[in-house]
Amino acid sequence: MSWKEIYESKLVTAEEAIKAINDGDKVVTGMACGEPFGIERALVENYKNYKDVQITSMLTLGDSPWCRPEMKGHFTFNCLFASQSNRKAISEGTCEFTTSHFYEIPDVIKNYICPRVSIVMVSPPDEHGYVSFGTTVDYTRGTTDYCEIVIAQVNKYMPRTFGNSIKHVRDFTYFVEIDEPLPAVNDVEISDIEMKIGKHCASLINDGDCLQLGIGGIPNAVCAQLGDKKDLGLHSELVGDGVVDLLEKGVINNNKKQINKGKTVLGAAFGSEKLNNYLNNNPSVEMHPIDHVNNPSEIAKNDNMVSINSCLQVDLLGQVVSDTVGLNQFSAVGGQVDFVRGATMSRGGRSIIAMPSTAKRGMISRIVPLITEGSAITTPRNDVNFVVTEYGIAQLKGRTLKERAKALILISHPKFRPHLMLEYRKRFNEEAFTKEELKTQLDEIKESINTTADDLRSRLHEDLKNLLHHN
Ligand code: COA
Repeated sequence: MSWKEIYESKLVTAEEAIKAINDGDKVVTGMACGEPFGIERALVENYKNYKDVQITSMLTLGDSPWCRPEMKGHFTFNCLFASQSNRKAISEGTCEFTTSHFYEIPDVIKNYICPRVSIVMVSPPDEHGYVSFGTTVDYTRGTTDYCEIVIAQVNKYMPRTFGNSIKHVRDFTYFVEIDEPLPAVNDVEISDIEMKIGKHCASLINDGDCLQLGIGGIPNAVCAQLGDKKDLGLHSELVGDGVVDLLEKGVINNNKKQINKGKTVLGAAFGSEKLNNYLNNNPSVEMHPIDHVNNPSEIAKNDNMVSINSCLQVDLLGQVVSDTVGLNQFSAVGGQVDFVRGATMSRGGRSIIAMPSTAKRGMISRIVPLITEGSAITTPRNDVNFVVTEYGIAQLKGRTLKERAKALILISHPKFRPHLMLEYRKRFNEEAFTKEELKTQLDEIKESINTTADDLRSRLHEDLKNLLHHN
């Protein structure tokens, strides 16, 4: 049969395709901008026909319908990256969560979760009968090699990307043609704080470096500061719209890479039409499965690899928490440790953890004496090198515990420094700073306390009084 005949023989409606799913099955579905919503909707509408089916997916930009109360007994959801739509369900126990480094997720799904069915989204076939996994090659492409049933939503909005992102129509069980725009991850405005963080990060980036950037305000702020750099490379698990201008202007040209010279290497893309249009039919971008892109030894093959990731909390030892807030699962480790380690192993490489110094509208410090009880360490202190806030850069590798703590206090928000200095004193039985050193910070500390909300202000004044009383 020609590929067209094969394709047409497999073309069915979503309702017909999902009849291949049996009670008790494990099903893996594509994530984020490649989530096969068209087929998922059919499953949700027909949920009463199914018993004990487990859906596994990484990040969903939808509403995680599998966690709704009426789904009980029909579907359960095994989430690999918590999001707005399922955080509450995870803490309430109605959504499962599996933790893993991103580069290991293809192996975890294949050999530990063992799904029988895969549901993915692909582009329409080309003239040779190949479809592309487009924006989400990550763990999805691999499932077509081992799942017994592979159902693909064919969507004309899915960009056609190159690299290891294509498969022939014969590798699928069913195709369901549903065209719908991909969910867009639009850029949010970069805040002043993010801009300052971006400037500090950019000061650690040299011409010719190869970058890993995530998505969100901080990576976009970093991109906004890189316009004057030359010959940058990009090897990243995922990117957003922020990199498109740098790619189009040739600031990122990948010319200095040791591997994949001249090519941008990605595992996934979460952006808007701007990014999707850039990716479509673009031979300068290679999308690969995540066990390749995020493998630390693969990352390290490029010299001067710089990883930039964000976090929620850092303690005075440099332990980094990025995916939990106390007992609550907030996101997941994703590729943070993969890239921190890959960048560290790369010749001339550097890893950066960047975050605003405070959270909850300035009410709490992200730099803390002790990690919040119940939180999980995402990146161990021995892996962490540069930590950046809007107040500067703390370089931790090769530094003593006291030096680490002092460097971190100096990039914390001034209003929380007295508390951190008191905790430093408790831990190390000495003052963090000499009287003279403290004097240079006092005006900044007092001013920041005075501009704080009343309830917090009195607590901070108390901390400062205690510190000065003993110092
Ligand atoms: N304690 C309590 N709440 C905290 C907190 C802390 N220490 N730190 C942040 N928060 C709150 C914030 O205030 C905010 O809540 P609000 O909106 O109600 O104010 C919320 O948690 C999110 O914080 P924010 O810093 O805005 O998150 P973000 O969207 O920038 O994402 C990470 C930051 C760390 C969660 C995200 O980068 C991540 O999941 N990283 C791990 C995965 C990874 O690094 N992958 C590799 C590259 S993509």
